[in-house]
Amino acid sequence: MKKIMLVFGTRPEAIKMCPLINELKKREGIKTIVCVTGQHREMLDQVLKIFHVIPDYDLSIMKQGQNLFDITTSILDKIKAILEEVKPNLCLIHGDTSTAFVTALACFYTQVPVGHVEAGLRTYNIYSPYPEEFNRQAVSIISRFNFAPTELAKKHLLDEGKDASTIYVTGNTVIDAMRHTVVDNYHHPELDWAGSDRMIFITAHRRENLGQPMRNMFRAIRRVLDEHSDVKAIYPIHMNPVVRRAADDELGDCTKIHIIEPIDVFDCHNFEARCFLCLTDSGGIQEECPSYGKPVLVMRDTTERPEGMEAGTLKLVGTNEDKIYEWFTKLLDDEKEYAKMAHAVNPYGDGHASERIADILEEKL
Ligand code: UD1
Ligand code: UDP
Repeated sequence: MKKIMLVFGTRPEAIKMCPLINELKKREGIKTIVCVTGQHREMLDQVLKIFHVIPDYDLSIMKQGQNLFDITTSILDKIKAILEEVKPNLCLIHGDTSTAFVTALACFYTQVPVGHVEAGLRTYNIYSPYPEEFNRQAVSIISRFNFAPTELAKKHLLDEGKDASTIYVTGNTVIDAMRHTVVDNYHHPELDWAGSDRMIFITAHRRENLGQPMRNMFRAIRRVLDEHSDVKAIYPIHMNPVVRRAADDELGDCTKIHIIEPIDVFDCHNFEARCFLCLTDSGGIQEECPSYGKPVLVMRDTTERPEGMEAGTLKLVGTNEDKIYEWFTKLLDDEKEYAKMAHAVNPYGDGHASERIADILEEKL
């Protein structure tokens, strides 16, 4: 029996790892062990509950307003004993969070092989997204198995000199999750509030956008909402207190936007599928919204998801207030511009990435 330990700690990692956990649990020759770092708490638990995943280990490291040193040192400190106790044949990590990077480092120190899910995404700007670009490049130095979501991600890894025999193009496991979330008969009081108005879906949290860039985004959004009587926005806000303060300052008294607590992934996908357009700095939402044919204005300077930009459904608008205002207005007022972006595209696979990864591990481990 091969022991595979999956380690993750934030909401997006959980959304993308839970389908894989549930797939691996079906495989007889594999013992699946789940360790969460608890880098997120409420937002992580919300996902675990939806997928019925109960962790075997929980490092519970989250602190309010934690910085990168806090996350790094707490995980490194606590995970050593678990790796030494479990002695997994492979440790699977996801993407580019600090949980992923630090777990990979701990695996290197304890000589546990690493498998990297969602490998090979790049901007090649080490400060954007920050610290994620460093995290994922660093993980690639260590990883023994690289599960790339797309051919482009595979190309990045090959260009960096990774051995081709370690790279598998599987699609993204988020599409696996999406196969079961969006339903026809869906109701939510917030959607009732939006009624027949055009609903704009908003999220924002990136560390490099905290401070002035985030205030710029909120100001632009407010100006546009004030100028359009048939538009309302729903913004499930991240739990980061810095984000909450900025949103409260800039949007707190705006009646055209509902700022609500984080919604679960089932609700989130159903909101995305029903919105008019989305404004976000999130990574995962750039993968999800295009497949519902919803244009996305990406409020960042770089993206590691160029597939959606090439397809025309993502537009990188940066964090300048006037530029966000200009593009948001354009998509509301100019039907042709909207139509150019509003078509369904899904470059991230067929929803069977978890099965592929499990098959590969069964064969190769
Ligand atoms: C982290 C990841 C980022 C990922 C994002 C997804 C790093 C460095 N950053 O950023 O790559 O895109 O998660 O959302 O790994 N908080 C809570 N409850 C929660 C979650 C967060 O209260 O359930 C608050 C805490 O005060 C916490 C703060 O949010 O200190 C920031 O969380 P943190 O994980 O440090 O950073 P994120 O911006 O969430
Ligand atoms: N999401 C969610 N509830 C919310 C906001 C987002 O379930 O209130 C989901 C969303 O569908 C996507 C993921 O969380 O799958 C994105 O997470 P986030 O934006 O926190 O992180 P990123 O993808 O930027 O790393």
